[in-house]
Amino acid sequence: MQLLREPLELRRACDDARARGLTVGLVPTMGALHEGHAALVREARKRADFVAVSVFVNPTQFGVNEDLARYPRTLDSDMAKVEAAGASAVFAPSEGGMYPPGDETRVRVGATATDLCGAHRPGHFEGVATVVAKLFAIAGPCTAVFGRKDYQQLQVIKRFTTDLFFPVTIIGLRTVREIDGLAMSSRNAYLTPEQRSAALGIPRGLTAASRAFDAGERRAGVLASLARAEVEPIATSIDYVDVADPDSVRAHKSAEIVGERALIALAIRLGGARLIDNMVLGEEPPPLP
Ligand code: PAF
Repeated sequence: MQLLREPLELRRACDDARARGLTVGLVPTMGALHEGHAALVREARKRADFVAVSVFVNPTQFGVNEDLARYPRTLDSDMAKVEAAGASAVFAPSEGGMYPPGDETRVRVGATATDLCGAHRPGHFEGVATVVAKLFAIAGPCTAVFGRKDYQQLQVIKRFTTDLFFPVTIIGLRTVREIDGLAMSSRNAYLTPEQRSAALGIPRGLTAASRAFDAGERRAGVLASLARAEVEPIATSIDYVDVADPDSVRAHKSAEIVGERALIALAIRLGGARLIDNMVLGEEPPPLP
């Protein structure tokens, strides 16, 4: 497996692969990789011959009081994990490589990025869209695989890929969960053992909403409050527990009646960790049986 440090090295590797008749897969990550990322790499490998995994803690998607400085950086173990999952190359650029002197251009995102996390992390999705657009521009025509745990991010990326005519096929992969239902996340590493047990309020909340939905409940406010009832006792604070349209990611008002598919998504703080999770009611099984 190759380790590529410069954007032009990634471009050359992808161009060379295509020149040899191979298809290219891309898995953008910020490192601190876990089994959920390995699943993304395996999926990319099923769909493409040459798979590049980017490992870059992107400064433009972190707010001033967020965890950029302490975000775990574990390149050696990340490389071992993605190699075992079938990656052909790791692209781990420097900050100056991705944002060279004079860099000033940003991808302005729209309504998809307004509600949910967009309402609580100003500038976050602009930073995500900008760095992912840079990766797409470097890699060229490819299939890119992202996790559905970052559901709103996935929709924002699909939107700008269409709007800006990137020759990239986007695949969203189902959230990979621990055996007890907690969604895998690099930020789970911030949790103490007590907080890790308390975090199970999150899958319980989504499951409660899912059961009610399956039993016919369609009031957005009721679905959200069922999930909220499980996370309120365990959260240090709650950013949001919202029911939203799964395509536009616009939040429903509490009195609204949802259709046959509805996104339920939440973000809470638990100690020093900000945890997100979601599921599309009517489309996915709940996290707990
Ligand atoms: O989901 C992530 O890890 C990041 O937001 C991404 C897509 C790699 C962009 O930095």
